[in-house]
Amino acid sequence: MHHLIAPSLLSANFANLEKDINMVNNSQADWFHLDIMDGVFVPNISFGFPIIKHIKKYAKKPLDVHLMITKPDKFINDFKNAGADILTVHYEACTHLNRTIETIKTNGMKAGIALNPHTPVTLLQDIIEYVDLVLIMSVNPGFGGQQFISNTYNRITQLKELINKKNSSSLIEVDGGVDISNAKQLIDAGVDVLVAGSFIFNSANQSNTISQLKNI
Ligand code: DX5
Ligand code: ZN
Repeated sequence: MHHLIAPSLLSANFANLEKDINMVNNSQADWFHLDIMDGVFVPNISFGFPIIKHIKKYAKKPLDVHLMITKPDKFINDFKNAGADILTVHYEACTHLNRTIETIKTNGMKAGIALNPHTPVTLLQDIIEYVDLVLIMSVNPGFGGQQFISNTYNRITQLKELINKKNSSSLIEVDGGVDISNAKQLIDAGVDVLVAGSFIFNSANQSNTISQLKNI
């Protein structure tokens, strides 16, 4: 499979979101990555349902929604109604993760699990066969524009081995500090989906930057 690109709108211009959404629509990007933060699970607050619904109106590609919130179970149906196609919850935020994953799927979405940089990949061994995606955080979640943690490469390799061993069809997504300097090594290690925020939206030609990441 050719790898996918998911621009993170956290670094977009929220005063003119329609422009940035259309840029992504007309680019080689595959998904929209939406970061939802509650100020409790992570030390930052981003945006919620009204904004997601507006994004959905203009987006012509799937919405990949990354929940950085405690108790995500309370809102699974609301995220479906707002337009999420893929819903990813944090391992560290879920006590009954198997149930959460099943609920996401019965609500008609793809289900993902995100891991913070310190959470061992091996903890997924009894759930990997049930998930559509694993998101490996390559920074501590909460903010765009942080520095990539280099131990991520080892984590991707371990995860790829686990996925193969368990015959899982899960995709591997990497999120945080992704740019042209680390993208190739990440793909070589087994990444299927590259998330990038500041590298894309702070660049002079955003659509070209997406193409650069896509055509590695
Ligand atoms: C961080 C978010 C990321 C963020 C990535 O908590 O999950 O999706 O937007 O931003 P960059 O690519 O700038 O590190
Ligand atoms: Zn994210």
